[in-house]
Amino acid sequence: MDQVRKTVSFILDGKTITVDFEKERLSPTITVLNYLRSLPNHKGVKEGCAEGDCGACTVVLAEPDHSGKMIYRAVNSCLVFLPMIDGKQLITIENLAWKEKGEVKLHPVQQAMVDLNGSQCGFCTPGIVMSIFALQKSHVSPTREIAEDALTGNLCRCTGYQPILDAAIQATNGQPDHFSENENAIQKELKNLNDDQNDVVINVNGQTYIQPKSLKSALKFLTEHADATVINGSTDVALKQTKKFELIAKVIDLSAVSELKFFNEENNQVEMGAGLPLESVKTKLNGEFPAFCEMLKVFASKQIRELATLGGNIGTASPIGDTLPLLIAYDANLKILSQSGERSIRIEDFIKGYRQTDLQTGELIYSVTIPKRQNVRFYKVSKRKDLDISTVSAGFRLKLNNGSVEDICLAYGGMAAMPKRAKQTEAFLLGKEWKEENIVEAMKILKEEFQPLSDARSGAEFRKLAAKNLLLKFYEETTHEFSPAR
Ligand SMILES: Cc1cc2nc3c(=O)[nH]c(=O)nc-3n(C[C@H](O)[C@H](O)[C@H](O)COP(=O)(O)OP(=O)(O)OC[C@H]3O[C@@H](n4cnc5c(N)ncnc54)[C@H](O)[C@@H]3O)c2cc1C
Ligand code: FES
Ligand code: FES
Repeated sequence: MDQVRKTVSFILDGKTITVDFEKERLSPTITVLNYLRSLPNHKGVKEGCAEGDCGACTVVLAEPDHSGKMIYRAVNSCLVFLPMIDGKQLITIENLAWKEKGEVKLHPVQQAMVDLNGSQCGFCTPGIVMSIFALQKSHVSPTREIAEDALTGNLCRCTGYQPILDAAIQATNGQPDHFSENENAIQKELKNLNDDQNDVVINVNGQTYIQPKSLKSALKFLTEHADATVINGSTDVALKQTKKFELIAKVIDLSAVSELKFFNEENNQVEMGAGLPLESVKTKLNGEFPAFCEMLKVFASKQIRELATLGGNIGTASPIGDTLPLLIAYDANLKILSQSGERSIRIEDFIKGYRQTDLQTGELIYSVTIPKRQNVRFYKVSKRKDLDISTVSAGFRLKLNNGSVEDICLAYGGMAAMPKRAKQTEAFLLGKEWKEENIVEAMKILKEEFQPLSDARSGAEFRKLAAKNLLLKFYEETTHEFSPAR
């Protein structure tokens, strides 16, 4: 039998911590939040919502990227299972201030929050400081837009966001901190930890947690444990435990499989590993595929995108998953792997029904290939701009020939049990002139084509109206500013 490891190790408070779940009779799906709060000196991290919405639980995970540069990512510790931080540095609010000649020195982020009155009751403050800390480690003098984006996942009931944003701007002026000074030593220790690349397998209290360290192991475990719940970022699955209080009996955690985190751009298309977190996708696309970048701008919060993966969004097959209508509009292709080989499938054929995919036992989503196309757009209707789930979303594609529709795709989220194309409306428009009269007729067909649900987010009538109006908006935009490369 291949050698496996039963423990996970990470750096906290500058020291390596090794957790032996079986010996300590500790659930392997304990969240980082609950683990920290069980320690005597880490009560600064707070639970507000336990579902990734408030940011009170924000901590920072640090590890070197492929070039050896330390990357600091703010994440929601309420959604991260403890084994997911194996081989990383965990930084909490307690680690920010330091002592110099016996005197406590506040970290520049903490000092800025004090100077600019960024805190009142203080409940949200540790999370906010950690989000700004991660921003400070990655940006010098960021734009206001970047600072706002870093804080979209942090709610504050009492201070108001202006002083907090001002503090973020003041704190990111490039001054070094004690983390910069200790990076070499931390990197050395992280390297030692990551030298052990044995798969992690933990069996305790009726739970099994498997963390393969390679694609080969992942495929083997998937074949052997068809009943396991697969996770990558766990931003969807963790809620089963934190909100529905379900016991997740068996987990295969793909978050340590580096072969699933690649990004290749060539021949007018991009192929992205299914395990690439969406924030990395955003950085790597760097404005290319503008519709995809627009979608990522309004996808959850930065903390969620640091965890959530493309494979995870597709894997949920959620009727309101934001990537899905857009990937349908791009006519994206998935590569699916299992121990017996690989296959390719169009995203449209992969989504089979309400939260159902074409994935067979032993298979995983390996990558997503998106061809570059002109005139692809994304629209999201939600109650709030930031950190909200779609009420209706849309991915549209259009190609005209002499002013008439040669190719069109109108894919909607939130209108049916799964993301779906408006095929009758598309058929009506095909070959017709792209003009308002025809769009108005098409909107009548569209209204009858879907029978959406009424739920907490919205009524069916609103959804129909929004879907129609998005088509009109698409027409207006494509008519008045036609042909930008999308
Ligand atoms: C606060 C909050 C805000 C959110 N906002 C949005 C939003 O704006 N838009 C949106 O679309 N979603 C949103 N989500 C939902 C969620 O974040 C996304 O669906 C995310 O992309 C899931 O990715 P993950 O890696 O975390 O998935 P996980 O939770 O790890 O997995 C989700 C599913 O995908 C499957 N899966 C994961 N990886 C693979 C793989 N490689 N192969 C096969 N199956 C796989 C798993 O088995 C599981 O069924 C939000 C969630 C939260 C908590
Ligand atoms: S407790 Fe609210 S985001 Fe984690
Ligand atoms: S200071 Fe009270 S919630 Fe932010």
